[in-house]
Amino acid sequence: MKRIAVLTGGGDAPGLNAVIRAVTKTAINVYGCDVLGIRDGYDGFITPGGVMPLDLGAVRGILPLGGTILGTANRGNPFARKVLRDGKEMVLDVSDEIITAIKELELDALIVIGGDGTLHIAMELGAKGVPVVGVPKTIDNDVGGTEVTFGFDTALMIATEAFDRLHTTAEALHRVMVLELMGREAGFIALHSGVSGGADVILIPEIPFKLESVLKKIRQRVESGSRFSLLAISEGAKLLGGEPVYQRTGDEIYVPRLGGIGQEVGQYIEAQGFETRVTVLGHVQRGGSPTAFDRWLATRFGAAAVRTAAGGVLGHMVALREAQIVPIALNEALAVPKRVDVNGDGVLTARGLGISFGDECC
Ligand code: F6P
Repeated sequence: MKRIAVLTGGGDAPGLNAVIRAVTKTAINVYGCDVLGIRDGYDGFITPGGVMPLDLGAVRGILPLGGTILGTANRGNPFARKVLRDGKEMVLDVSDEIITAIKELELDALIVIGGDGTLHIAMELGAKGVPVVGVPKTIDNDVGGTEVTFGFDTALMIATEAFDRLHTTAEALHRVMVLELMGREAGFIALHSGVSGGADVILIPEIPFKLESVLKKIRQRVESGSRFSLLAISEGAKLLGGEPVYQRTGDEIYVPRLGGIGQEVGQYIEAQGFETRVTVLGHVQRGGSPTAFDRWLATRFGAAAVRTAAGGVLGHMVALREAQIVPIALNEALAVPKRVDVNGDGVLTARGLGISFGDECC
């Protein structure tokens, strides 16, 4: 292996820099190979100054940093890139241009750190001959094939701390506190942080809910002497028979942006006579320094990605399975996105603790 490149695509997640550092150090120390960093996702291949050399100095001190020293892009799909031509906005397939640029760099491997969307693009590029190895990233933990993605643990820590803080103010003023959390169509952040933060109601996309059922839980708590309640609501949660709430619908470039369900549920509860406040935790969940677990996982993922590339196992991503990092074919890993198992131990545990998912009979 003589030369590899690494890029970060999609939304950022804590631990991206730890992967970049592990990739660079392992490639240089173990394989004596050159490492290139590609700026702003796949865009860097076709923008001036988009390719930078990475040496040991370039990755010094970045382990605890959030964000990504390479920059990222969540609209940089080479198969459908929004460009301005003759003053008009249009969507173009620039994948051939990118593949040519990659070939000119004579890469032995391109390590792509990203979530579902970025890894799907890697898989398509792989099918066209690009030597890709994936590293799964996202706070949402919704990438198939791996038990966990890096970034998730940090998001949980932030969300759990938010519950702890909401708990004391909720109790003091006898209020209902709603916390809307990220996660897209997967309820992992709301479920795990809700249980860890002592939520009374957890609403997730995988379990459609009824408002009456949520209200019943709040009433029961008041009747039993607990005059406050904490609600964990995943941004993708939806009413039984209803649709998720969007801040903005999608188009061929932009993915739809979820948001607003917390406010809707909060307004309903307040209208029933319970003083309610709504907090939307938003991008705080993605920012700042990664937890020790995320640094450890991201570092192992980065090092394993280089070993996978050196072994010639291309078109794969690294994954955590039974405490080991293993390569999984991208098409296998991405075949089905990961969702909360509604009959799994997490949901059963929560139900056993008396937490409502808003689907109980009223
Ligand atoms: O996928 C990560 C994530 O943070 C989701 O949880 C959230 O829905 C989305 O990205 C927000 O995207 P953006 O950064 O484009 O607002």
